[in-house]
Amino acid sequence: MAYYPFVIEKGEGSKVWDLDGNEYIDFLTGAAVNNIGHCHPEIVKAIREQSEKFIHNTLGYSFYELPVLLAEKLASLTPGSFRKRVAYSLSGSDANDGAIKLARSATGRQKIISFLGSYHGTTYGALTLTASALGLKKRLGPLLPEVYHVPYADCYRCYFGLEYPECGLHCIGFIESLFKILIPAEEVAAFVLEPIQGDAGVIIPPREFLREIKRLCEENGILYVDEEVQTGFGRSGKMFAIEHYGIEPDVLIVAKAIASGLPMGALISKSELMEEWIAPAHLFTAEANPIVCAASLATINVVEKERLPEKAEETGKRVMRRFEEMKERLEIIGDIRGKGLLIGIDLVKDAKKTPARQEAMKTCYRAWERGLIMISFGRFGNVLRIAPPLNISPEDLEKALDIIEESIIDVVEGRVSDSVLGEMSAWG
Ligand SMILES: Cc1ncc(COP(=O)(O)O)c(C=O)c1O
Repeated sequence: MAYYPFVIEKGEGSKVWDLDGNEYIDFLTGAAVNNIGHCHPEIVKAIREQSEKFIHNTLGYSFYELPVLLAEKLASLTPGSFRKRVAYSLSGSDANDGAIKLARSATGRQKIISFLGSYHGTTYGALTLTASALGLKKRLGPLLPEVYHVPYADCYRCYFGLEYPECGLHCIGFIESLFKILIPAEEVAAFVLEPIQGDAGVIIPPREFLREIKRLCEENGILYVDEEVQTGFGRSGKMFAIEHYGIEPDVLIVAKAIASGLPMGALISKSELMEEWIAPAHLFTAEANPIVCAASLATINVVEKERLPEKAEETGKRVMRRFEEMKERLEIIGDIRGKGLLIGIDLVKDAKKTPARQEAMKTCYRAWERGLIMISFGRFGNVLRIAPPLNISPEDLEKALDIIEESIIDVVEGRVSDSVLGEMSAWG
């Protein structure tokens, strides 16, 4: 599957090159993974040095220092001043599976509540939680039992057709009514939710929405599982996006940018929750691989040293301003949503907000032809995904934004042929 015929040969900072030597600015960063840019010298050094010491040791049988150092770091960075424990895995998907297992074993309850529009991955647990694209689940059932989906606070395209704030957060009232007729709250182990839905098209809920979910958790003994696979490590302008909402989750899930793309996921939870796990409840032979841990420690060090959350916040504001200017001239831009450098540009066909999916795909194609890697995503596939490295230079940023503006204009003015769609494969 590919969005356009691009074959990467190498990457450096915010640029990538294809096999023919063509240069591109990278606004995809491997799907919000290369937050610190491609091949950051400190990561390359950490990987090289560790690979000369030892490459593998199964953590289930004997210790080494790196996973402990990393666990201490993760515990100190994540919200909550309580004692924490860390469990490792190999991806965001299996970390989500781990969260389901943890929530069930710690509470003795089975039901899990997830949200429409969410993407959590493709292993069976994560896939069951996911509700963002039909193609992901077709012919794969049955999935896990006792997982329920409820509407997320998507206020631009409300599931109930309402307007915020006049709606009075009907989506929360809806969950409360389900607690009365379908899902006994005392049987619910956890809510699992992204603080900002990524693949749904950068859906930023009102502050009260997440705080109300937290209230429902506290009132009913339900665990709050904060899914930060895409939003973590500075992407949203904070180390973790939940910090925008002032919530201390019981469990936090990370992956993607944690090790600059080397395979790793992790669960960070209140210590007592993991004490209910009987070893080896969530074990992987290659978990917390020493090279991956070294890369992760180096990545986090760069995020902190280069003040990347703050940089993402500042740069994100500049990007949003630039799109606001474009929106005044280009009616196809329906909505601009973003925090830090997690930004989505919602393209529409008309004032009724009809999603402009093909136009979004064509914009990405034309942008690629002009030297920018960018994809479209979202519930309706019509949102331009703006996710550059957090330390992108102002020059590369401006150049990329120029390319996007020119590409949108080309599409609007009919200069990009429908035939390019045949070469593209976006998720369905
Ligand atoms: C929010 C979120 N959760 C989970 C995943 C799955 O992670 P992985 O592909 O590493 O299994 C993704 C990947 O895009 C994601 O965006």
